[in-house]
Amino acid sequence: MLKIKVNSLKPGVTLGKDLFSYDSTLLLPKGTIITREHLDSLHMRNIDDVFIMDSKAVVKSGRQFEDVYSDSLSVVRSFMLEAKLGKPLEFEEISDITGLLLEQVFEANDLFRQMRLMKDKDDYLFTHSVNVALLCILMGRWLKCDRETLKELGEAGLLHDIGKVFIDDSILNKPDKLTDTEYEEIKKHTLQGYNLLSQYEWISTNVANAALMHHERADGSGYPMGTKGFSKNLCVSVVAVADVYDAVTSNRVYSSKRSPYTAAEILWQESFGKLNPEISKVFYDKITNFYVGNEVLLSNDEIGVVIYVDPSQPTRPIVMVGDNFYNLAMDRSVTILEVID
Ligand SMILES: [Fe+2]
Ligand SMILES: [Fe+2]
Repeated sequence: MLKIKVNSLKPGVTLGKDLFSYDSTLLLPKGTIITREHLDSLHMRNIDDVFIMDSKAVVKSGRQFEDVYSDSLSVVRSFMLEAKLGKPLEFEEISDITGLLLEQVFEANDLFRQMRLMKDKDDYLFTHSVNVALLCILMGRWLKCDRETLKELGEAGLLHDIGKVFIDDSILNKPDKLTDTEYEEIKKHTLQGYNLLSQYEWISTNVANAALMHHERADGSGYPMGTKGFSKNLCVSVVAVADVYDAVTSNRVYSSKRSPYTAAEILWQESFGKLNPEISKVFYDKITNFYVGNEVLLSNDEIGVVIYVDPSQPTRPIVMVGDNFYNLAMDRSVTILEVID
């Protein structure tokens, strides 16, 4: 099931939930096959979104990444707010949205650019969940995982922080440094997420474990248990890397977003003893190569184009500015501040 904008709705799709007017009158029951007349009536009543049954019908009609992202965001917002109120998670909702994101990552070469454009559209928790799902699927594709595993990785990304719905907003959105007690409270999102997810038979153990373990670090510095050693679980390792990347490159209440190169640099450093190096290496190698040909803003205020990435120092490429070249591997005084769209 998927919530979509009436504007992108085509006749022939099946309604996934009863549709009510603003005064709570039942307009169309679940299962109604939408006709052109229904669409006209929905427009006249200023109804913006509806839940539909078959997300594949919409994908096949060639939807843009932006639409799919917005729709995913509204589904994530809706099931997270419902989970906060104690309502159950719905298999169809989660499964359909993951399937839809799977199609996008397969097709969208410019996923990173699109993700940058779509950030700050909603609360960090919701955009972060969609972004981490997309990044997990992307990493799964790079690791040549089968479709079943890709779906599991997508679900793990989508649900890894669901425990945060149980954390007080004043702590979650606190712009200042957290007190020790508040930090202990935040850490609980891992256990709370695990406890929620492990209640459902249709949610795999790997997905629940990713919620529990994505902040663990191999040197024992992570939480909630401070487990030492690298996890053997693919979902846990992939979510941990995607989570760091998205957190660094997003605006949050207490810190401004930093460039994909800074994120890659952090992943590089953390691959020595914290994050699973086999997974983080694939990510920072691919991601740094991804930006070859892109314009970047340098820390000396010059704008240049990334022209070459040395595999041994992927986060320090060669950048061309006019007729000059900066080899950032040699010239440590200059860094990449931003990737420009
Ligand atoms: Fe988390
Ligand atoms: Fe996270």
